[in-house]
Amino acid sequence: MTATPRCAMRSTPSVAFVRDSRAPTQTPSLQSTPLDWVDEASDESFPASDAPAWPASASLRTDPALELLMERSRAPAYPLSPFLTVLYGGEFGLPPRSLVANFVASVDGVVALGPEYPESGSAISGRNPGDRFVMGLLRAGADAVLIGAGTLRATPGHTWTAEAIYPAAAAEFRDLRRRLGRTDQPRLVVVTARGDIDVDHHGLRDGALILTTDSGAERLRGRVGPHVVLRSLGGDAQIRMQAVVDAVHSEGHEVVLTEGGPTLIGQLLAADLLDELFLTVSPTVFGRSPAAPREGLVEGVAFGPSKEVRLDLRSVRRQDAYLFLRYACTSRSLP
Ligand SMILES: NC(=O)c1ccc[n+]([C@@H]2O[C@H](COP(=O)([O-])OP(=O)(O)OC[C@H]3O[C@@H](n4cnc5c(N)ncnc54)[C@H](OP(=O)(O)O)[C@@H]3O)[C@@H](O)[C@H]2O)c1
Repeated sequence: MTATPRCAMRSTPSVAFVRDSRAPTQTPSLQSTPLDWVDEASDESFPASDAPAWPASASLRTDPALELLMERSRAPAYPLSPFLTVLYGGEFGLPPRSLVANFVASVDGVVALGPEYPESGSAISGRNPGDRFVMGLLRAGADAVLIGAGTLRATPGHTWTAEAIYPAAAAEFRDLRRRLGRTDQPRLVVVTARGDIDVDHHGLRDGALILTTDSGAERLRGRVGPHVVLRSLGGDAQIRMQAVVDAVHSEGHEVVLTEGGPTLIGQLLAADLLDELFLTVSPTVFGRSPAAPREGLVEGVAFGPSKEVRLDLRSVRRQDAYLFLRYACTSRSLP
């Protein structure tokens, strides 16, 4: 466990769980449920596994659970352990072949404080345990984690695994991946045009896929470790996002999580490639000024009036003053 300040669980949240009628499974009501009540998993969506019984979790009574306020998810439910189900405040799953994003933003939409504060994600989230848990859960459910080189450069000590961000559920995350038939860890995929990345970055140590241009590949060739696959998608400048996503799928990765940053997500939205957005709204306001320009959720591309990106609210959860929003992305071109 890191020294993350954690909120003590004072009482079990009262959860009214409304599920989309098209979804295949029944969801247990968690209303007025004691925290240690759930003793069996509800799972009809995935084949029975020979995995052992759910791992015991010592943290069950100390971790804060998310309070479910609204749910209209259409994704299949993953076979979560009781611990994960309680922490998340209900069922969770991702669409079978999908690209989903996870970000934390302040109330005024700031996701990065600028180059002088590279690891500003922690400052924006306040290292909120609920945000770290959702990051872990999303990583646990993904085949691959896609990031831009800017995010890699900004977070030198980071690894994009579920247990690294939320160690208290490490055993449950591992178990979930086993039940889903996933590899031990999601594969890190880094996009870079210039090939300007630290080849000794901690996050690359256990293997990664680097998608780059011919010139980027030239710069990195012979320098990356044996577990890192270097793949050029041609050219010298920007790679088309469709080519990036096709390359990730062609490696056998179906469920792809992107953790940014704002340049990458802007292009994914512009190309209509993002299926869902998980957005943590942190109860902070950072503002902007010419001296402190700050980055928003999307950088480098602007939408409207000819193209609209619209978000359909799928679920709302809460922990203290933090909101956990899940959106489906839709967009349309206007005449
Ligand atoms: N709050 C949050 O949830 C959150 C999440 C993620 C990141 N962040 C923050 O966001 C900041 C980084 O922002 P960013 O916009 O620079 O990050 P980014 O989108 O991760 O990285 C941008 C870089 O990715 C590469 N890239 C992007 N599109 C490309 C394309 N089409 N073809 C080839 N390469 C492409 C380029 O790398 P090269 O320059 O190497 O060519 C580009 O400079 C950091 O401070 C990070 O902490 C915050």
